[in-house]
Amino acid sequence: MTLSLANKQVLLGVTGSIAAYKSADLVRRLREAGAVVRVAMTENAKRFITPLTMQAVSGFPVHDDLFDVHAEAAMGHIELARWADVVVIAPATAGFMARLASGQADDLLTTLCLATKAPIAIAPAMNQGMWKHRLTQQNVQALKNKQIHLLEPEEGSQACGDVGPGRMMEPTEIVKKITALFENEALRGLNILVTAGPTHEAIDPVRFLTNGSSGKMGYSLATAAREAGGRVTLVSGPTAIPPPPRVEYIPVITGQEMYEEVMIKIAKCDIFLAVAAVSDYRCEKTADQKIHKMDASIQMTLVPNPDIAASVGQLAQKPFIVGFAAETENVEEQARAKRLRKKMDMIIANRVGRGVGMGSDENEVTVITASEEVHLPSMSKHRLAAQLVKIIADEFKRKRKL
Ligand code: C5P
Repeated sequence: MTLSLANKQVLLGVTGSIAAYKSADLVRRLREAGAVVRVAMTENAKRFITPLTMQAVSGFPVHDDLFDVHAEAAMGHIELARWADVVVIAPATAGFMARLASGQADDLLTTLCLATKAPIAIAPAMNQGMWKHRLTQQNVQALKNKQIHLLEPEEGSQACGDVGPGRMMEPTEIVKKITALFENEALRGLNILVTAGPTHEAIDPVRFLTNGSSGKMGYSLATAAREAGGRVTLVSGPTAIPPPPRVEYIPVITGQEMYEEVMIKIAKCDIFLAVAAVSDYRCEKTADQKIHKMDASIQMTLVPNPDIAASVGQLAQKPFIVGFAAETENVEEQARAKRLRKKMDMIIANRVGRGVGMGSDENEVTVITASEEVHLPSMSKHRLAAQLVKIIADEFKRKRKL
C-alpha cells in the first residue's frame, strides 16, 4: 500500500443522500492512504449516518453547526476552511450542488466551501432522473466553470430501484482522484536530490553529537517534489518518520556518509535541495568503549565535517542548488551571506529556537535568490513544501531558460 495522501488534510463534507453510508468507508480509505480527515455534516446527512460513526472512523469530533459556540471555540469554520488541503463533498445531493452553484452560504458546509482556498471535489449521488434534469446539469456545468472538480457519478442500480447514472463514485476511486489532484507537472522529468534530517557523530559506542532536526521539512519537500513529477532521491540522517512513498531512500548516519552518498548521486541531479542539518563537527577520535564518568573534566577534539552544499557548489557541472539557513538571529542577513559563500542559487531562511522551525510541524520562511526575496507566512511544513516546490521549479526554469 502506498501512502499516496501522506499527511494531506482532507475535509470531508457529507450531505443527505442514502450514499452517505459509504462516507464512513471513504474516511477509512482516505486514512489508509495517509490522510488526516475531518468530517462536516449537514442536518440531512445525519438522518442517514450518525455523527458518532463519522467521529469514530475519522478520530475527530464531527463539525455540523455554523453557530455551535463550543465547536467554534475548538476549531472555527474559517480555521477549518484554512486547515483543509482539499475539500471533498461525498455524497453531494442535487440540493447541495444547487446551493453551492448559486454561491449560497447558509450552512456550515456551503460556508466552508466559500471560505476555503483549497481545491474542492464533489461526488454527486442522486436518483438518475434528478441527475439528468436540465437544472441539475446546469448546476454541474456552473460548478465545473468555477474549477470545482466533479467526481462523476456511476451508472447502475439505485437505492430507489431505478437503473441509470447517479450512483456515488466508489470510495476507492474517489481516493485515486483526490490523490491525482495533488499531482502536477512542475518538475516532470527532472532528477531531484534531497538531504534531510540530522546526522549522528559518534563520541563513543553509545553517545553521539546531533541536533534537533526532525527531518519533516526535507521529507515534505521530497514528497512535494515527487508529486510534481520529479524523480526524487532522499539521503536522510536518522529520523523517526517513515520514508515518503515513491522516492529512492538512502539512509545514512554521519555527515561523512551523507557527503559520500550525495557525491555518488550528484552527477545525474538537476536540482539539489540541501535540507539536512549536518553536524558541522565530528569527534577527531571515537572511543572504542563507553567513556566512564570521572571527577575531572575531559577534553574532546572536534574536527570539521565536509560541507556538502558548499562542495556541490564547487563542482564544475553543478545542479541548481537550494539551501536552508536555520538561524537564531539576523536571519536574512546570515542567509544572504551563506547563499553567496556556498554558491547556492536559492536559500530558504528561517528562524529557529524557542519551539519554532527545527523539529516543529510549522515553519515560516523567506526565500532568497540573487534577484528577489519572498516571505512565506507560517504554515504546515507539508503545505510550505508544495509552495516551495513551485517557486523552485519556476526559478530553475527561468535560470535554465526552459
Ligand atoms: O549549517 P549551515 O547553516 O551552514 O547550513 C546551511 C546549508 O548548508 C543547509 O542547506 C545545509 O543542508 C547545508 N550544509 C551541508 N553540509 C554541511 C553543513 C551544512 O550541506 N556540513
